[in-house]
Amino acid sequence: MKKKLTFLGIETSCDETAAAVVQENTTGTANILSNIVSSQIREHKKFGGVVPEIAARSHVENIDIIIETALKKSRKKISDLDGIAATAGPGLVVCLHVGFNIGKAIAAFGNKIFFPINHLEGHALSPGLENKISFPYLLLLVSGGHSQYLIVKGLNNYRQLGTTIDDAVGEAFDKTAKILNLGYPGGPNIEKFSKLGKKDSYNLPQPIINRAGCNLSLAGLKTDVLRKSKNIKSNKEKYNLAASFQETINQILNKKTRVAMRQFREEVSDKSEKAFVIAGGVAANETIRKNLEEISKEMNFKPIFPSKEFCGDNAAMIAWAGIQRCKNKLFLKKDEVVRSRWPLDNKAPFLKGPGLKL
Ligand code: KG4
Ligand code: ZN
Repeated sequence: MKKKLTFLGIETSCDETAAAVVQENTTGTANILSNIVSSQIREHKKFGGVVPEIAARSHVENIDIIIETALKKSRKKISDLDGIAATAGPGLVVCLHVGFNIGKAIAAFGNKIFFPINHLEGHALSPGLENKISFPYLLLLVSGGHSQYLIVKGLNNYRQLGTTIDDAVGEAFDKTAKILNLGYPGGPNIEKFSKLGKKDSYNLPQPIINRAGCNLSLAGLKTDVLRKSKNIKSNKEKYNLAASFQETINQILNKKTRVAMRQFREEVSDKSEKAFVIAGGVAANETIRKNLEEISKEMNFKPIFPSKEFCGDNAAMIAWAGIQRCKNKLFLKKDEVVRSRWPLDNKAPFLKGPGLKL
């Protein structure tokens, strides 16, 4: 019988310090032996966003104990592991160095293989932790730093269909919450206070909604929220604006997801039911889940939301990506370094910055 691989995963690309021990099981999914995530929300709350140097210092302070806890909980020793996987990008370089370097050091001293992992690949493969899904599938990755539609054709084979040309969806939630003084992180608070407001109170813009394929643009929406927030005189109006913002995001995602689904069908030329995976922190939003579930039904896709613990940043998905790469002998160069930008699809155009024509 073939050996079932066991990996330690490490994640420090932004404001979560995380370590996990994951083992393949006989059904082709994963046994999560431990999954430890330490969030730095409290440290960044007073600044209304992530401060890179504070995040990096906090990773340094916590990473050893987080790894130790993950190993202890899994009842595995370093000698029991088959490999170590750590996020190498994209993300905040000062933060990435912490997890990457400790992972590399543990691998060197334990005589294990080290896998530098693309954080986006971690999210892209995360549904495989719990579900056996066959390639190709459509992925919508919506987090604080990324918003992308991708065809996951196979391991190491990604085609980007669309991305945001300015703010990520989670970033738009966070910035809107900051404008409305609803606290950090914005997403869960906007969702909570939207329940107290009327979603059709304000008419907000949907930039590039009828052009540029399934690319997204959200900066103009946030700017309009800022403009309208200046005339707010009561909490009721504030909640109405939050609800209208969330509704506008849902309308944008509704339209753009349909475009992405049509593009997916054209590229894979297969009309049978396919999986549509929604990953990243924003996938926790119930109104967005309901919206995307409805579109999926209409367009013959099977919606898959990883459990909430695997939607946001975690190290189980990094360990899992390491296991998949190891099984398929997809080793990266020994002199790999951390990178702030690392697209999954190298051929995708870079869509940020001035002078952009869509
Ligand atoms: O994937 P994640 O944990 O970290 C990144 O890689 O960014 O995502 C965090 C993002 C934040 O912008 C947060 O506001 C957003 O996900 N988020 C939500 C919800 N929960 C988290 N956005 C909307 N609704 C939510 N319930
Ligand atoms: Zn992430």
